[in-house]
Amino acid sequence: MHRLLVTGGAGFIGSNFVHHVVATTDAHVTVLDKLTYASSEASLADLPADRVRLVVGDIADPETVDPLVEQADAVVHYAAESHNDNSLADPSPFVRTNIIGTYTILEAVRRHGTRLHHVSTDEVYGDLELDDPARFTEATPYQPSSPYSATKAGSDHLVRAWVRSFGIPATISNCSNNYGPWQHVEKFIPRQITNLIDGVRPRLYGAGANVRDWIHADDHSSAVWTILTKGESGRTYLVGADGEQDNLTVVRTILEIMGRDPDDFEHVTDRAGHDMRYAIDSTRLRTELGWEPRYGDFREGLERTVQWYREHEDWWRPQKAATEATYAAKGH
Ligand code: NAD
Ligand code: DAU
Repeated sequence: MHRLLVTGGAGFIGSNFVHHVVATTDAHVTVLDKLTYASSEASLADLPADRVRLVVGDIADPETVDPLVEQADAVVHYAAESHNDNSLADPSPFVRTNIIGTYTILEAVRRHGTRLHHVSTDEVYGDLELDDPARFTEATPYQPSSPYSATKAGSDHLVRAWVRSFGIPATISNCSNNYGPWQHVEKFIPRQITNLIDGVRPRLYGAGANVRDWIHADDHSSAVWTILTKGESGRTYLVGADGEQDNLTVVRTILEIMGRDPDDFEHVTDRAGHDMRYAIDSTRLRTELGWEPRYGDFREGLERTVQWYREHEDWWRPQKAATEATYAAKGH
């Protein structure tokens, strides 16, 4: 595991993983990233140039992907179109990147026998009812709801088929909702924090009863490293930190942390096909591989995240107006 290829390593979670690898191992990292609107070169700026290099390119381009996979001991595949609302407006880049891109990675991995870890989402399982005590496990049937989650489900199926049919050495992780620094302002938590910095009321889709299972991005990174180094090829691991919260509670908590009236938000048009509840049972990862999350206190993690956005306005400001204009056009 000395030479890693990290796709999507300039995105929110991929860049967190690159920092984790540099801080905790002596591995060298090549980041392959197309630098879409969701990326941030700044998130990699303070890393040592002799340990991390950025290749700007498309995971759906075999001529770019093949030599990079050939030179790597392992590929950690984060690159994706990641935002549900965008996938409802235009699914095409989701199909291209998430499905064709993953297929392109798989074919290179097959040619060169390289170890692959595929990073996926709990959304492939669809959603749970609010009053259902069940949580997702590795045995839960796939039932994706949105174009985004359907393309991630498709990518998971491709990885499973390449393991079974061609014997490639690969693992998959399906993680719940991440939060932390460097997350694009289109996503729920940074959108509300930056709205409040701008004096704008938070926007809650529908009634706000929908539940997400929040995990700090640092904990996701330690889980992926654990699976990459200790996981059994062909196996899937669910990643979660027992962080279920409904959206209304999250908005109220952010308002409180930022010194505002907890009821000072707006209900806006709901997301089409909005999944009700996600919840992860990460027993396999904890008992078989010994992983544990470090961020147990969601409110404290949120406080640190609020502080980070207050201190990094120069980073998110250029994206904010265009993001809000897109939301306004959809009634969100
Ligand atoms: P993100 O949108 O912040 O970053 C995605 C990165 O991929 C960007 O840097 C982008 O430039 C790059 N990219 C997109 N298309 C590309 C292409 N064709 N070629 C090369 N690079 C390309 O996403 P994120 O939130 O960091 O998510 C990363 C991965 O983790 C995704 O696979 C996502 O499905 C998965 N995931 C995310 C969450 C979450 O809560 N954000 C939870 C579970 C799983
Ligand atoms: O579960 C993992 C998934 O989590 C990842 O696979 C996705 O890449 C990631 O984007 C995230 O998907 P969600 O759709 O759950 O995240 P989002 O931040 O878009 O929304 C979180 C919840 O907040 C969801 O119920 C919709 C709601 N929401 C979102 C926005 C942007 C609001 O109520 N208001 C908003 O302004």
